[in-house]
Amino acid sequence: MNATRHLTGIQSLSADDITALLDKAQNFADALSSGAKIERTLKRKTIITMFFENSTRTRLSFEMAAHKLGASVINWDMETSSLKKNETFLDTILTVGAMNPDAVIVRHGEYEAPVFMAKRMNCAIINAGDSWREHPTQALLDALTIRQAKGKIAGLTIAICGDVAHSRVAASNMMALSKLGAKIRVIAPDFLMPQKFPVTGVETFTGMEDGLTGCDIIMMLRNQKERMDSTRIPDDATFHRQYGLTRERLDLAGPQALVMHPGPINRNVEIADDVADDPVRSLILKQVTNGIPTRMAVLEDCLRP
Ligand code: NCD
Repeated sequence: MNATRHLTGIQSLSADDITALLDKAQNFADALSSGAKIERTLKRKTIITMFFENSTRTRLSFEMAAHKLGASVINWDMETSSLKKNETFLDTILTVGAMNPDAVIVRHGEYEAPVFMAKRMNCAIINAGDSWREHPTQALLDALTIRQAKGKIAGLTIAICGDVAHSRVAASNMMALSKLGAKIRVIAPDFLMPQKFPVTGVETFTGMEDGLTGCDIIMMLRNQKERMDSTRIPDDATFHRQYGLTRERLDLAGPQALVMHPGPINRNVEIADDVADDPVRSLILKQVTNGIPTRMAVLEDCLRP
């Protein structure tokens, strides 16, 4: 019998569940950096990745995580799949399910696609991002990165800036970080401000200057033009002038403020080059590195007997 523990979102996790995953991820991070032996606990497991949207860091780090735990990984490729011969999404997932993989890691543009799959496939379903709804492993790796940099999460003020309305990263982060006791601010123009939030107590600002002062963490986001009427958004130079994270705005936040971005970054649109590349203040590549131990923790949690 396959494992059927899924990770479809942060919403269903308690603060204790999140902390346990972060502790496990930190142990893997320590082992990866010290070169300690990692037990191949997923040696007999087969994992299929199904990415219906593009990805560099999420897919690769899931793959690396699975390899480090000894699992076999098979990539289903949308472009060469039978979807291109008009097979439906449902028939595609029933077909993949009939091969009895132990887990499927899925990224999909449709709202709750991983939840739909979890009801129809006899294996663990791990959400690698669905629509604007949830991207749980990104929120976990972000929380791990914050905990490493600041030593804690409770009591920190975290500003999430830019295209919050269309961002699954923002949604999952708001849930994870507020469950862990952080104070959340959202800074966005009206047309990128969500109409409602997945958690209570979010402070909203329409100006960067007002919202950034005193923040411990500044989380920037790419404008998700593929999920909006992009005629509503100003040109890149204007957006950068109004909402880009520049050195001046970072200085305004204060010397304690550290910068994050889930990637892919659009340089000199939402974030200035020198801020993105700042070796002390920017945690962007650290986030990427933390993707591997975080996903190891999630895979082991979902797949271990
Ligand atoms: C994001 C995503 O795909 O949700 N990236 C990621 O997974 N690190 C954000 C984005 O595409 O802008």
